Amino acid sequence: MSAALHTPSRAAVPFDPAAVRVQFPILATTVHGKPLVYLDNAATAQKPLAVLDAERDYYTTANANVHRGVHFLSEEATRRYEAARGAVRRFVHAAGDDEIVFVRGTTEAVNLVAHSFVGPRLTPGDEIVITHLEHHSNIVPWQLLCERTGAVLKVAPIDDRGDVVAAVLERLLASPRARFLAMAHVSNALGTILPVAAFTALAHAHGIPVLVDGAQAAPHLAVDVQALGCDFYAFSGHKVFGPTGIGALYARREHLEAMIPWQGGGDMIASVSFEKTTWNRVPYKFEAGTPNIAGAIGLAAALDWLIAQDLAQVAAYEHDLLAYGTAALSAVPGLRLVGTAVAKASVLSFTLAGVHPHDVGTILDGEGIAIRTGHHCAQPVMDRFGIPATARASLALYNLRADLDALVAGLARVRALFPA
Ligand code: ALA
Repeated sequence: MSAALHTPSRAAVPFDPAAVRVQFPILATTVHGKPLVYLDNAATAQKPLAVLDAERDYYTTANANVHRGVHFLSEEATRRYEAARGAVRRFVHAAGDDEIVFVRGTTEAVNLVAHSFVGPRLTPGDEIVITHLEHHSNIVPWQLLCERTGAVLKVAPIDDRGDVVAAVLERLLASPRARFLAMAHVSNALGTILPVAAFTALAHAHGIPVLVDGAQAAPHLAVDVQALGCDFYAFSGHKVFGPTGIGALYARREHLEAMIPWQGGGDMIASVSFEKTTWNRVPYKFEAGTPNIAGAIGLAAALDWLIAQDLAQVAAYEHDLLAYGTAALSAVPGLRLVGTAVAKASVLSFTLAGVHPHDVGTILDGEGIAIRTGHHCAQPVMDRFGIPATARASLALYNLRADLDALVAGLARVRALFPA
């Protein structure tokens, strides 16, 4: 996966996970009397001091509402909020700050695009194309839209490794009724990295706009919306070392201009009367109400912090960790890895023969090890592999080989309690 990971931004400096870990106070805590081993990064990543400090500094020195005051604090809050938009623009390589809409997270971004861009373009019988490995947040908004409009959801299958079957996707996109493609950049349940640039090009060849769900990609891959060519790219702050409740939608400016408003309220208007209301310019047209100002500032701190790492070294390090974890888990008797795509990001989803994943998770928790168990909001993926759930260890740049050794030791404890 190293080729697709974050691209280097400066001369190589050896990556030192210990130097990174000390910036994450929670990683030094204990759980049930054991040192925390945090392997649930795909659900939410931990936050470095840079993010905690940025939020605290905002509330300590600049707290006010944005776009609404002539007083010093309001102007300062506005300046920082808009600077945060600039940080997101730099992170995704958008052409302008006005192509960045702050949202609550990826879920809200997908719903926004479904409501404001795709919905108005559909007639009954039109087709929305997704893939079989999508998170529920990239399935359900489209189902709701299909119910409202009479459109039809088409699903490109995945193979036994967890890769999208490109030939079928290509066929679905060639349908004269295909109107939109929505796909993950990285599968949260399997770790598969999708060739989104190639799939976007396929869709565009048929005049079909594309949304990429980047929630699981942003912490691991270089995000360059120009290179990907996509029309929309969504990601969440909390998975990329930022706060919860904040995320961003990148959208091409011409799409935002053409889109109908999403929620009505303050700040999204140019003028209001009982006879006629007109809309603010983009992106504000899509940011009704007081936004999550501190969250946006925290997100910007997270993105700046991530970009400041030696990303080539980080990429190599994460690649090594995943390979180490894959080999270590493969050697555990009765363990089946679910998701073995060649291009994979830092997810190790597995089942252990004779033990329910929830029991695996509970016993590991007793050892201080945090993983996620369940269907990972991707029930169709579980169905595809004929299982109700998996245990999932998901990695970040602050994880160590020792964390994976602890996981394997924890699984031995599970096996001792549930003999084969
Ligand atoms: N989507 C998040 C996960 O995969 C919550 O765990």
